[in-house]
Amino acid sequence: MDFGFTEEQLMIQDVARRIAQEKIAPSAEHFDRTGEFPLDNIRLLGENGLMGIEVPTEYGGAGMDPVSYVLAMIEIAEADCAHSTIVSVNNSLFCNGILKFGTEAQKQLYVRAIAEGREIGAFALTEPQSGSDATAMRCRAVKQADGTYVINGKKSWITSGPVAKYIILFAMTDPAKGAKGITAFMIDTAKPGFHRGKTEPKLGIRASATCEIEFQDYVATADEVVGVEGEGFKIAMGVLDAGRIGIASQAVGLAKAAYKAAVAYAKERKSFGQAIGSFQMIQAKIADMKCRLDAAEILTLRAAWAKAQTDRNGGRFSTEASVAKLTASEAAMFITHQALQIHGGMGYSKEMPLERYFRDAKITEIYEGTSEIQRLVIARNETGLR
Ligand code: CAA
Repeated sequence: MDFGFTEEQLMIQDVARRIAQEKIAPSAEHFDRTGEFPLDNIRLLGENGLMGIEVPTEYGGAGMDPVSYVLAMIEIAEADCAHSTIVSVNNSLFCNGILKFGTEAQKQLYVRAIAEGREIGAFALTEPQSGSDATAMRCRAVKQADGTYVINGKKSWITSGPVAKYIILFAMTDPAKGAKGITAFMIDTAKPGFHRGKTEPKLGIRASATCEIEFQDYVATADEVVGVEGEGFKIAMGVLDAGRIGIASQAVGLAKAAYKAAVAYAKERKSFGQAIGSFQMIQAKIADMKCRLDAAEILTLRAAWAKAQTDRNGGRFSTEASVAKLTASEAAMFITHQALQIHGGMGYSKEMPLERYFRDAKITEIYEGTSEIQRLVIARNETGLR
């Protein structure tokens, strides 16, 4: 099948592959073991246009399209899932959010440093008591007589929170209005009233730093409102549609790494006098892995194509994004599990990356909308029922 990728798309894929194989893959085990944030690798990705792939060149990005983003993300995630998390949040949640909903001044002020990878961006929606039910947030932004907003509250599970310079925050400006009482703000983490909690110890993607953040009388000006007051929930949902394509790409890259390792091992490992790949039970696993991997990759490219259409013509790509995220994350979980099983005891050992792939895969079924939320979005969109 020929997707007809353009020269530019293949070029950015090649740049991502080179950095992924030369710098990220060799250091992935170190960053997983230590939990250190891979700052030098992220800076290198930024210098090569990979921290703002869809950001126009005038704001410091690579000026590429959603398909390029998917191709690059797959390469990075194949080398290390944690790096691809940092890349994904920077690209699809932060840069995409400001480009789509921010003012010209906000684009000028906040996008360049993030797109160039000199600073890191984050996205703060989840709270300790509200994850899937995002409208149940308690973080409050109270408008003052002078037009500023005073923000108080906590946000949790903030990817890149420990290192972020700028964060898109969602807070309640009018609790009586529910979803229509939420507003998005641009947060500068250097300003007074912003605090970071401890970094979360996680099962996987350990090099991607995650923490709670807290606002205590943080003052945001009217110029720091992103979009229109009261439209924050729609902004969050629209931005997450793009984010879900990033997570789908991540899952595809991770699944590819596990699949390739499994096929190589099945050909090389001998048991009962023959390569284990010649046994039908291993062959069945490989066939099932291959089908899910290809389905995930094709659906992720379709979602990127759908986003490119809506970037030009308007409309939504929520269903395509959720279908891709659901299929790819469940494929990654299945494939990393089977790949570990094919490796037997070696798969369980920290001397090989299989156990890391398996730990990293789990998060793709949880963040940016759990698999249950993706099913809900797809079914609601398909039936029109709630
Ligand atoms: N784009 C634009 N608007 C949207 C939209 C979208 N994708 N989805 C919904 N909306 C609009 C609706 O049209 C509706 O507007 P109107 O009232 O004008 O019709 C409004 O938003 C409210 O929509 P719903 O009634 O459908 O909202 P809901 O309360 O039923 O919630 C939900 C829907 C699908 C459950 C949603 O809350 C959801 O996706 N939850 C999951 C949240 C999530 O993904 N969290 C991840 C945290 S971020 C993260 O993980 C980042 C990280 O660090 C890696």
